[in-house]
Amino acid sequence: MKASEIKKVAVLGGSGMIGSSWTTNFLWRGLPVHVYDVSEECLKTARDRVRGNLQYLVNKGLLTQEKMNVALGLARYTTSMETAVKDVPFIQEAAPEKYDVKQALLAEVDRYAPAEAVFASSTSGLLITEIAKDSAHPERCLGAHPYNPPHLIPLIEISKGEKTSAAAVTLAYDFYRSHGKEPIILQKEALGFIANRLSVALYREAIDLVLKGVCSVEDIDKAVCFGPGLRYALMGPNLIYQLGGGPFGIKGIMQHIGPSVELWWADMADWKKVPPAWPDMAQEGVLKEMANRPEEQGKTPEEIARWRDDGLLALLKFLNKV
Ligand SMILES: NC(=O)c1ccc[n+]([C@@H]2O[C@H](COP(=O)([O-])OP(=O)(O)OC[C@H]3O[C@@H](n4cnc5c(N)ncnc54)[C@H](O)[C@@H]3O)[C@@H](O)[C@H]2O)c1
Repeated sequence: MKASEIKKVAVLGGSGMIGSSWTTNFLWRGLPVHVYDVSEECLKTARDRVRGNLQYLVNKGLLTQEKMNVALGLARYTTSMETAVKDVPFIQEAAPEKYDVKQALLAEVDRYAPAEAVFASSTSGLLITEIAKDSAHPERCLGAHPYNPPHLIPLIEISKGEKTSAAAVTLAYDFYRSHGKEPIILQKEALGFIANRLSVALYREAIDLVLKGVCSVEDIDKAVCFGPGLRYALMGPNLIYQLGGGPFGIKGIMQHIGPSVELWWADMADWKKVPPAWPDMAQEGVLKEMANRPEEQGKTPEEIARWRDDGLLALLKFLNKV
């Protein structure tokens, strides 16, 4: 099968944060979606979230009202797995992040979906080999990890299990590319994939700095978003170092600052468990940070998420990604 032959997708766990955003992503690009969730109440949430997301795109001039109405008509909401997947060649799973839940869901998919349909899990970092270990068709199973919200953020990390076929990986890669995404393929399985491993490496150090009394929760966020975060939207750490090294490039900068960085590394956190005091400290710190935000940038999670999406769209326009 070719990516251009995928004319319909199923989204499993469609009312969730990620599932509703995947549905938005596909509908926005004119693809019919079968939205599956476990109850009628969940499906109502899914409808409301998708409508809200599409309306936002209309308000931002990225979709016309007419096309939004057409897109809404392309979604079919169901609590029947058979209806959701029986004639669908691409299945995007966005159910809770637990092996047993994803394995049970996959068993249901195996009962009803065409044998050649791709099963793409949104898992944030579980192993595909483990998710697919009892599947009748492990060759069709892969990880397709988005970043929240998937209808705006382009990255998709595609990961393979031991039995994933090269054909499924190529198909998924081509499919996401043709729907506005920026996929990368992991050559080996790795818990947490690439971007989340990088994020949590940074986050361990963030926690440690606050626990050591070096700075506040709010200052950690300021240090990231007014400093390196601005550049990270445009280029990754390797290219940043290449530019930072001037005429000597990344090779020169590594030789220049390497010994100093080794001193920092020797001093940095390497613990493996979330410090018990951290969740309460983090929550208290973030609530203070939210209260200190400028009014026009929002103070509630909903207002801040809207402000974030406005900023993401501005960046995506600059990057020619919308
Ligand atoms: N939230 C994020 O930032 C984020 C980012 C990337 C990937 N992910 C991954 O996406 C997946 C979904 O995360 P989320 O944050 O959207 O969770 P969520 O809790 O918001 O949504 C989960 C959805 O799954 C549904 N569900 C529950 N049991 C189910 C079952 N047995 N079968 C099918 N659906 C079921 C729920 O009704 C809900 O709609 C997880 O694997 C998560 O790791 C999350």
